[in-house]
Order: sequence, then structure tokens, then C-alpha cells
Amino acid sequence: MLIGYNKTVPTTTGNKAFINFDNGASTPTFIPIWNTVWNVWQQPEILHKEMIPEVKTICSKFLNAPESIYDILFTSNTTEAINLVAENLSFAENKEIEPVVLNTYLEHNSNELPWRNISGHKHLPLSVDSDGFINLPELEATLKAYNKDCIYGKQRIIMVAVTGASNVMGSYNNLEEISRIAHHYKAQLLVDAAQMVAHKKTDVLLCNIDYLAFSAHKTYAPFGTGVLLAKKELLNFPQSIKQQIIQSGEANVGGIAALGKALLLLEKIGMHTISSYEKLLTSHVLNGLAKNENISVFGLKQIDASITENKGGVIVFIAKNALPSKTANQLAFNEGIGVRYGCHCAHIMVKKIHNIGPGLEKFQGLITRLFPKVKLPGVVRISFGIYNTITEVDTFLESLEESNISKKEIINKATNKKQIIELIKQETIKKIFN
Ligand SMILES: Cc1ncc(COP(=O)(O)O)c(C=O)c1O
Repeated sequence: MLIGYNKTVPTTTGNKAFINFDNGASTPTFIPIWNTVWNVWQQPEILHKEMIPEVKTICSKFLNAPESIYDILFTSNTTEAINLVAENLSFAENKEIEPVVLNTYLEHNSNELPWRNISGHKHLPLSVDSDGFINLPELEATLKAYNKDCIYGKQRIIMVAVTGASNVMGSYNNLEEISRIAHHYKAQLLVDAAQMVAHKKTDVLLCNIDYLAFSAHKTYAPFGTGVLLAKKELLNFPQSIKQQIIQSGEANVGGIAALGKALLLLEKIGMHTISSYEKLLTSHVLNGLAKNENISVFGLKQIDASITENKGGVIVFIAKNALPSKTANQLAFNEGIGVRYGCHCAHIMVKKIHNIGPGLEKFQGLITRLFPKVKLPGVVRISFGIYNTITEVDTFLESLEESNISKKEIINKATNKKQIIELIKQETIKKIFN
């Protein structure tokens, strides 16, 4: 029922079923979800308006965010949702304080750049450990220093903006505790839930989250829809601007309905079933990677019952004898396995796990300025979805073992790589536009 499942792709040893281990970028869509888009497009406009509140109710129930407490807005993605909150802050004038937004080194650019760029606000990143976890006593000490002891004059932390699930480390930080600490010191809490909603039960009310953002394309629905949940009365744009936001153009009703359908599907499968299954895949791959002496894994290297809630199915690693780009290409060209390599829009965290100090960072900055085509090496990432299998993980592990192949073989395969790229260009793109 999954669009693209079992699709064959050309590899160096013939056509093979594509193994998609890049669900952190976007999850594929299920046929009933895509059918919803078609269905909605065929309905009269009058029904379109009815569907939007229906999907708001689905979101509210799925996330345990009662509509009596939360406003639900549809955006185009997580990035837009977070920008909206940041923009909203810039309208709140309080001459008594100098506002500070507390962020972490773990964040995706989407939950970092909006805070760095709002005028009149200081942006303060909190360090995380090498497994991607916030140090809670440090969070508390920072909030206390700014908001209670007033060590920094009029500077007050008004917002703690953190990721619910890291797109690099797979770490799940303790949102209940972060929320308790933030609210104790009168700061609001925004959670970037882009990597969380489809993988782990998200309970907005239990965690007392003020704002939560996520994207449909990471939740088994198509691109183009995002969600912003905000406690009522927090989005205090001037009335004229609020009106413009609400009434600006037609809503992406097909995409919104598809998101509703996707959440219902996830609910039907059960979030507990999903997280347990993805945990099984994660344990299996971590155990397999631990046996490969050529591989270094970053983040938690084992998951067991005691840390069920700490890590999702996102694993990053490097091969000791190859750049991440080479490892990713080998997996793709030899076995048809799709992974991602690079810095995953979270350069700060990737630098941290590579122990890149300020001196080396300056040098890297110089190199990338002089040679803009040079990319920072980063890490290879695999990220699971509910449809991945243990057999696929085994194929991946075997393929990594085989990548310790001789240089001669690599050169042979590089010749084939060119042929494969040509084939994709000629066949696939031509077919799409014909
Ligand atoms: C943790 C996290 N936040 C935000 C985003 C941005 O999502 P979007 O591109 O849908 O706005 C991503 C995308 O990868 C992500 O992983």
C-alpha cells in the first residue's frame, strides 16, 4: 500500500528493490492517503471548508492537544510554522526586559535560524552531550541565572525552543522535564516535532507544550502541509496581520486532508506498535554496526528496555576508510539502498560529534569560502520508517561489510556509477514529463 515500495532501481549488479533508509528526510505516502488527495480535489468547494476543521480535530486528538486550549494552524511545513512563532515574538513589546531565546546545539536550521534572526532578541544556544541530550541541570541553572537571579540585567529567557527528536542523533529529550523547568522560570516552550510525530506518541497536554510544529511529508502524507499548534492567546499578532494570515489565499485542502488521513492511519496501527517496531530495527542495526570494525557510530550505540524512550530510528555513522559521500554512494550503487550523507542541516551538532574545535572550524570556513563546491564531510544517516524490515537491515549491514572491497573493484564500480546516473537522467526524468 506504500507508493514506491518494492520499486526496482538500477545497481551495479542489476536491478534491485529500492531500500529506503531516508525516512528522516521525507516519509513515502500510502496509497489510501494519496487517494484522499484525489478524493478531496473532486469535491465541491463548499465541502473543502468543512474538511479543515475536521482535520484540526484529528490533529487535536492525535496529539492530545484539546481545541479548547490550542489553536491549530496549517502552514506549508515545520520551517514556516516556527518562523511564524518567531515573527509573532517580534511584535510583543515589553520595554521592561531584553528578550532571550534559549535554543540548543542539536537543532535543525529550521529551529535555529528563525531565532537567530529575530530583531531585538538575543539567541542563546545550550550545549548538549555527544549523544544529543540536553543537560537538564544546566538548562535549569541557565534559566535561573537569567530569570530568577537576574545576573544578566534586563535579559530574560522568554522562550525555550528545542527539538523533540533529533534528525542527527535520533535522541528524544525529556520534554516533560524540559517543560517543567522552562515554565517554572516563566519561559514558554516550543517543540520542533518534525522527527517525532510519526515515530513516538506525542502528548502535547501532558508535556505542557506551548507551541509544537511538524510537517506532513515526514508523517506519511504529501509535501506542502505543516502544522503549528499554539496555546490560545499566545499568537498575539496585531489583529490586522492575524486577519491577513488567516485569509491569505486558498488552503492546501488536499494536502491538509491527506495529513488527517495519515494521522488516522498511524493511530490505527498504534503509536506504541510503531515505536516498538522501529526500536527493534534500531537495536538490530546498532548490534550489526557494532560488529563492523570499520564503522564508527555516533550517539547511543545500544538501546535496551531502560532507554526505550530515549532514541528513535535515526542512526549516524562514518566508515573509517571512506568519506561519507563514498559510503552513501556505494550503498546506493551496489545495493539500491537510499541513505543520506552530509551535515543534515544541523552543522553545529555534526561539528560537535566530529570534535571540530574553533581553530579547525575557522580553517574549514576559509576552505569553503575559497572553494564553494567543497562540502563538509559530515556523517552518513539512516532513518527508519514503519515499513522497513529486518531483512533490509541485514542487506544494509552486509553491503557495508562488502564496502571494504579492494580499490580496483571501487574503480570498476565508479565507471558503472556514471552509467547509472545517465540512465536515471534519460529514463526517469523523460518519463515524468512525457
Ligand atoms: C528536526 C527537523 N526540524 C525541522 C525540519 C524542517 O522540516 P521542513 O523542511 O518540513 O520544514 C526538519 C527536516 O528535515 C527536521 O529534521
